[in-house]
Amino acid sequence: MSASILSLEGVRLSFGHADIIRGASFSIREGEIHALIGPNGAGKSTLFHLISGRLAPVSGHIRFRGRDIAGARPSLIARLGLSRSFQQTSAFPSLTVAENLAIAVMGATGERGSILRTSAAMPAVWARVEALLGKIGLARFADRIVANLAYSEQRILEIGLACAGDPALILLDEPTAGMSRAETEEMVPVLRAIARGRTLVLVEHDMEVVFRIADTVTVLVHGEVLVSGPPEAIRSDPRVRQAYLGQSPEAAHG
Ligand SMILES: Nc1ncnc2c1ncn2[C@@H]1O[C@H](COP(=O)(O)OP(=O)(O)O)[C@@H](O)[C@H]1O
Ligand SMILES: [Mg+2]
Repeated sequence: MSASILSLEGVRLSFGHADIIRGASFSIREGEIHALIGPNGAGKSTLFHLISGRLAPVSGHIRFRGRDIAGARPSLIARLGLSRSFQQTSAFPSLTVAENLAIAVMGATGERGSILRTSAAMPAVWARVEALLGKIGLARFADRIVANLAYSEQRILEIGLACAGDPALILLDEPTAGMSRAETEEMVPVLRAIARGRTLVLVEHDMEVVFRIADTVTVLVHGEVLVSGPPEAIRSDPRVRQAYLGQSPEAAHG
C-alpha cells in the first residue's frame, strides 16, 4: 500500500451560521484515482476550494506531501505540485489549443518568452505542449482556435491546462458535467492518461465512470465523510444507498 499524498483531518468550514464542512477526515494515496461523490450540496466543491487554497478552513489540517497547507495561498499550493481545473473556462478563446497550452506551460515553469517564438527558440516548452496534446488526445486540434472547439473538447483542454506544470496531484470538479454519454466515454481515456504518473482526485456525478476508473471512493454527505473505500465496498454499502435517498447512487443522477 502506497503512502498518503494528501490527508484531511477534522476539516471544518462555515458560511455564516451554516456548517458546510463538519470535521471531514480522509486520505488520498499517492498515485491513485480517488473519486469524491455525494448528493448535491454535500460540500464536494467546497472541499476542493479548501484543498486548493481558495478557502481557508475554520479548523483542521490539510496535509499535502507532509506539509500542512490549510489556509495557504493558492499560488503556493500550486507551486508545491497541487493543481486544479476550473469549471468556467480559463483558456484564451481567440488563441489556438497549442498556444493556450504553451502559455500554461510557460506560466507553470517560469519560462519567459512569447508564444510567437518558434519551437526552435523554446524547445522545452513546445516539447511539453506536444506531450500534453498527445496525453489529452487533442493533437489533431492543436492549431484550432479555442472558440471553435466543441464544448467537450474545451473541457478536455481545461484538464490539459491544469496538467501544464506536471503536478503531483490534480483535482477535477465534475469533468464530465454537461456532456452526453458519447462525450463522457471520450473523457474516460483522457482521465486515465492524465492520471498516469500522478494522483487524480475527481468529483464525478456519473457513477458508471466512478466505478470504472476509481481505486478509492469517498462519500461525502452533509459535510461529513460517510465512508471511504474501494468501489466494490461503496457500491454495496447500505448507508451509501440511504444517503442517496434510498436510491442506488447509479440511479440518483439519472
Ligand atoms: N459562498 C457560499 N456561501 C454560502 N453558502 C455556500 C457557498 N458556497 C456553497 N455554499 C453552500 O455549501 C453547501 C455545499 O456546497 P458545494 O460545496 O457546492 O456542494 P457540492 O459541490 O457537493 O454540490 C451547499 O449547501 C451550498 O449552498
Ligand atoms: Mg459541486
